Formats: sequence, C-alpha cells, structure tokens
Amino acid sequence: MKAFASDNYAPVHPEVIEQIIKVNSEHAKAYGADEVTEKAINLIRQTVGDPNCSVNFVFNGTGANVTGLQTIMDSWNAVICASTAHINVDEGGAPERLLGVKLIDIQTPNGKLTPDLISNIWIRTGDQHTSQPNVVSITQSTEMGTVYTPAEVKALADIAHKNNSYLHMDGARISNAAASLGVSIAELTSKAGVDIFSFGGTKNGLMGAEAVVFFKPELNKKYPWIRKSAMQLASKHRYLAAQFIALLTDDLWKKNADKANAMAQLLRSKIENNPKIKLTQETQSNAIFAILEPNHTLELQKKHNFYVWNDHTGEVRLMCSWDTTIEDVENFAKDINSICK
Ligand SMILES: Cc1ncc(COP(=O)(O)O)c(C=O)c1O
Repeated sequence: MKAFASDNYAPVHPEVIEQIIKVNSEHAKAYGADEVTEKAINLIRQTVGDPNCSVNFVFNGTGANVTGLQTIMDSWNAVICASTAHINVDEGGAPERLLGVKLIDIQTPNGKLTPDLISNIWIRTGDQHTSQPNVVSITQSTEMGTVYTPAEVKALADIAHKNNSYLHMDGARISNAAASLGVSIAELTSKAGVDIFSFGGTKNGLMGAEAVVFFKPELNKKYPWIRKSAMQLASKHRYLAAQFIALLTDDLWKKNADKANAMAQLLRSKIENNPKIKLTQETQSNAIFAILEPNHTLELQKKHNFYVWNDHTGEVRLMCSWDTTIEDVENFAKDINSICK
C-alpha cells in the first residue's frame, strides 16, 4: 500500500537508477573532479539560468541548508524564517548547533513570509548587543504546501538586499513549486534575486542528492572547507551528480512534480466536500493539510501511513509523490470518506 506520509517514502525513479548504472564503470576522479559531475553542474547552471553560478552536491537537505547558510554567517548573525520552516522545526537543531546563530521565526498563516511580516525585524543594526539578521530563508514549496510566485520571491529578495541581507531558498520541493506555477526553476531563483539555493532532488525521484547553488560566486570561496568539515563531501561524487543528470534530462523533474501535484489536486477534490474533513491550506503543490477528528485519524492510520502535523489541532499532512497513482488516491479517498463521517 502506498503511503501518503512523505514524498521521501517513494522509490527512486527508474531513469535515475539507469543513470547511476550508466556511470558505474571504469574509474573516475573522486571528490567531484570527474566528468559526470562537470556535466551535472552544467545542466544545473542551465536550469537555474545562470552560467556563472557555483554548484556543489551534498547528501541531504539538512546538509544543503546548513552548509549553504554557513558560508555567510557569523555567530552574531541571525536567520529570518517562517516558524514552520524546516530549518526551524525539522532539522533537530542542526542550524543552531552548527551555525551557532539565532533563528528569528515568524508566525505565518500559510508558511509564507511576506515583506510586511519581516520589514520590522531589522532593528538596532550595528548594535553590538543585538544579533544581526543577515539572511532571509524561505522554503519553496513551503512546508505547508503553498508556493511563492516569482514576484513574491523577488519582493523578499528586494527587502533582504535593502537590509544588507541575503535571500536563501530551501528548494527541497522547488520542482513541485515550478511545475505548479508553470514557470521555470530559473524564474524562481536567479531571476528572482535568490542568493543561495538548496536545489532538492530526493523528494522528486532521486535516491539521495541535493545541490547547493550560489548565485554570487564569491560566496563559494569558503564552501569547499565548510562542506568537507560538515561531512557532506562525497568521495564517489559521480553517483550524486548522475542523479541530477537524470532529473534534468527530458524534464524528468517536471514530469515527476506534475504527477505528484496532480494527484494532490485529485485527492483534494475527493475529500473537500466532506464536512468532517477541514482543509486548512490551499493545495498548491503535492501536500494537503486537513484537520480530522483524532479517533478518525487513528482508525485511518490502521490502513494508511501519514503524519499528524499538529497534535494539538489534529491537523494531518497527506503527501503525494511522483509514483502516486489515481488508484492509490481513489483507495485512500474511499477509506477516509468512509471513516470520517
Ligand atoms: C522543506 C524541507 N527542507 C529540507 C528537507 C530535507 O531534509 P533531509 O535532511 O531529511 O534530506 C526536507 C525533508 O523533509 C523538507 O521538507
């Protein structure tokens, strides 16, 4: 039975496995000095629309976020992020431990920061007694399944830059956001003023690979040592790079994301008229958030795997993946509707 718990539960896409097998012969230079890595870097540069950006592969999303941020942070700096941000609530305190900085977490109705929500955060600039925010971090698509339009990203980049700060994007689900908006990944990143970008792949069919992209090449100067000392430097680098070659060949990223997003819309359409299921967020990517009665959740979890997102409100998250099928959605919808009544 397929899970609606996380897109991490899904298997690796066969085209990704094929690419891995393809590079699995002969010897190749280690630590990223190989031709497969070079090819993947060039594909990422084309995809993000910046031929000069720096691209670095890492093993996981927490590593991408923490090492990407580390390049710009001193311990007296602070990150401005949504209270629901993965860096704030789902990285086991890794940003606090490894960066040693303050996270200024902002309450939002839908996981999205706005210029209005953050404009008064920069205070006492230059005051040695106060942490100095120097980066705004946003997640695309957000942890609540919503998306930022290119104009919304640009507005946040503008306010960050006006305050001598950077814009960081946790793009663990960038493909879902771009596919949902019908825009390119470039329009959401380099063209919208993002400075540091965690390019996610694992949730969209890869086995385990993410890329840290810097749009200001000077930010890459310290990165090799930051990545190595954070234990995120792969010796057999080509196996990470090959996964991105698969993702960025023939628009696999978009096909996978379109599929997951479409299945979330289908599931929503099948449950939205049930008065016992209270949808709490717009479904703009591959996640649905809903409040169920706790006994209904327990009953449904006997058959289906999904996460309770908020123990206090009973909010659950239902996540579709690149391999979710219409039949999976219909089975799940039948069960949830027969239990929630
Ligand atoms: C928004 C977001 N960022 C980053 C990650 C990556 O985390 P991990 O370190 O588990 O790969 C996740 C995974 O759940 C996520 O949802």
